[in-house]
Amino acid sequence: MGHDIRFVDLKAQYRRLEEEIGARMQQVLEHGQFIMGPEVPEFEAALAAFAGAKHAVGVANGTDALHIALMAEEIGPGDAVFLPSFTFTATAEVVLHCHATPVFCDVDPTTFNLDLEDLERKVDAVVAAGKLTPRAVIAVDLFGLPVDYAALAEIAARFDLFVLGDAAQSYGAECGDRKVGALAPVTATSFFPAKPLGCYGDGGALLTDDGSRADIFRSIRAHGKGTAKYDITRIGLNSRLDTLQAAVLIPKLGIFSDELEKRRRVAAMYTDRIDDIARTPLRDSNTLKSAWAQYSILVDRRDDIASRLKEHGVPTAIYYPKPMHLQPAYRHFGEGEGSLPISERLSDEVLCLPMHPYLDTETVDKICDLIRSSLQSD
Ligand SMILES: Cc1ncc(COP(=O)(O)O)c(C=O)c1O
Repeated sequence: MGHDIRFVDLKAQYRRLEEEIGARMQQVLEHGQFIMGPEVPEFEAALAAFAGAKHAVGVANGTDALHIALMAEEIGPGDAVFLPSFTFTATAEVVLHCHATPVFCDVDPTTFNLDLEDLERKVDAVVAAGKLTPRAVIAVDLFGLPVDYAALAEIAARFDLFVLGDAAQSYGAECGDRKVGALAPVTATSFFPAKPLGCYGDGGALLTDDGSRADIFRSIRAHGKGTAKYDITRIGLNSRLDTLQAAVLIPKLGIFSDELEKRRRVAAMYTDRIDDIARTPLRDSNTLKSAWAQYSILVDRRDDIASRLKEHGVPTAIYYPKPMHLQPAYRHFGEGEGSLPISERLSDEVLCLPMHPYLDTETVDKICDLIRSSLQSD
């Protein structure tokens, strides 16, 4: 083997695209339109087409994409926004930036995504308490696996909830004959470098079929501007996708289908090798395909396995060591320890293994052998 094992290997991808990315960046340096240059709409059109959505709006990062979606929906004080507790902090943060109240729900032990029965219970409880108005649900496609958006849409219709897909980790995933970006009324994604489709800095996008919503997103990302430059029609943000990042993303999107296939192959190799000794994620099927942002296992002796892997040069990560309802910043919105048991158990047991399209069979074998010997060592 003799080479470094990386958690995410951006260098291998760069070697593949070096010439194209260099040429694209050079073009931007030549034309000099660093803000909203021609690469931005070019990339947006390609991003929407790939997902099968009518509109894509590039923004500064995935967190802003979520925030802008809630702002456009005029979510505010007195509104309840439901979301899973087992997620990255950005999903919860944006609710507070809108001065709304986050209501944390538990997740499903198999998919790690929102537990729809618990969502219904939580909405009923908010209605019964009569203090907040249930307004929206943010469904997180954790580790790349899409939520069951069809089932979620039924619940949302019953309670008149706006559905926002947090697809920061799942752009490229598929459910039935549709892709993420066309599964929810509004989908937010991230191009953070380590994401399946990542840029070389921060970036994000919103996808929707609704033209009037897309217009509002475009307005909010540019300080709330109207049709004329200094015509301000709403409170906005400064949250445009940089031209240079769009220029980097165009060639990356060109090889994205191939990279997704490669990620799926790596995931299947892991599962084939260790599903008898660790709890492995759902396998891809013909109707549900993850984008495999992460490959996670659930194990009892997580720290022993992680340190054994580290000794042999294999990096791992824990996403996420603490669910949101137990985080100091959000504790007062939840009901404390024991209230969302699956999220709490996953936080204790989850371990993410190296995952990127360029992992070879030999490396996957080595990682799996180390996990096996570590689990069998006493
Ligand atoms: C589930 C989830 N939501 C939101 C975000 C925020 O994206 P960004 O880092 O681009 O702001 C991330 C990633 O960082 C994420 O994993």
